[in-house]
Amino acid sequence: MQKTICLLPGDGIGPEIVAEAVKVLKATGDKFGHVFNFTEALIGGIAIDKCGEPLPQATIDQCKAADAVFLGAVGGPKWDHLDNAHRPEKGLLGIRKALGLFANLRPAKLFPELAGACLLRADIAARGLDLIVVRELTGDVYFGEPRGIETRDGKRVGFNTMIYDEEEIRRIAKLAFETARKRRNKVCSVEKSNVLDVSRLWKDVVLEVHKDYQDVELTHLYVDNAAMQLVRDPAQFDVILTGNIFGDILSDEASVITGSLGMLPSASLGATAPGLFEPIHGSAPDIAGQKKANPLATILSAAMMLRLAFDMGKEADAIEDAVRKTLQQGYRTGDIMEPGKTLVNTEEMGAKVIENL
Ligand code: IPM
Ligand code: MG
Repeated sequence: MQKTICLLPGDGIGPEIVAEAVKVLKATGDKFGHVFNFTEALIGGIAIDKCGEPLPQATIDQCKAADAVFLGAVGGPKWDHLDNAHRPEKGLLGIRKALGLFANLRPAKLFPELAGACLLRADIAARGLDLIVVRELTGDVYFGEPRGIETRDGKRVGFNTMIYDEEEIRRIAKLAFETARKRRNKVCSVEKSNVLDVSRLWKDVVLEVHKDYQDVELTHLYVDNAAMQLVRDPAQFDVILTGNIFGDILSDEASVITGSLGMLPSASLGATAPGLFEPIHGSAPDIAGQKKANPLATILSAAMMLRLAFDMGKEADAIEDAVRKTLQQGYRTGDIMEPGKTLVNTEEMGAKVIENL
């Protein structure tokens, strides 16, 4: 098969980790007889520096022309002084919107090889953690209008609008139930319907959609309780269905308790291709350019891309197996280093994965 992938390396460690994933993709293509063509475009801070805006139109066009989009990370202290409308993050939000990527799939899994890095008490960790956050990605307080900062009665006020229409809720709910059917058949819908009207609608619509998925167990949690349950007993979760802002927060929480933020991939999907694939961690400006970054989340995002965008299940399995084998052999980047293991840099980690392919 022949596929075109638009690379958006972005800022900070983005270019280093994307480079390793590209090597792994090329090796996978060679092994299985596929040709991956790569194009590259600017997003985030580097796009601001070179073009004066975080998401140039040329980037959108190039992404739309590709079969999948593969992103590193955006942002950094260099651009922190910019107002929200012009920050690197606006590029990421913009490309999600431009490609209609309403569903963000963020699996969080405890790798047995990395159990020592898990932040949970051993008896809780022993019950396992293998969940996926299905986060709505193009609505909510992230995009709701009106928004802004203005002066009212001599006082500055800042405001955003938390808003969902029923169609937005319905399509992400369906995707969560479909996802659960391929896993352990459980969906927990997370909202704040004891306080927020938008969450009342969320819950009503999720219950309506559930009528078509009676084989899937549905539960509901308020977001504060969900945040607490995630550390108290994460084994209870299979699919967590939630909105954009709650999903942003809970997916960071779910991933960090595995102890390996540098290990977790994500996929953002719309009704049509291309989807966008990226590690869930950020641009880590503090270690950028030092070859310290863990490329595994990015490499695992490449596996997710092969599976979900190109229907290449066995190719994805091969990459995931190679990552597991590399961990079993004891190779670790600094973020997941433990006594007795072998410390490697970004490129060495990528090379080990390719050796194990
Ligand atoms: C994420 C990030 C982004 C978000 C930022 C960088 C805009 O935190 O992908 O979770 O809030 O969605
Ligand atoms: Mg986030």
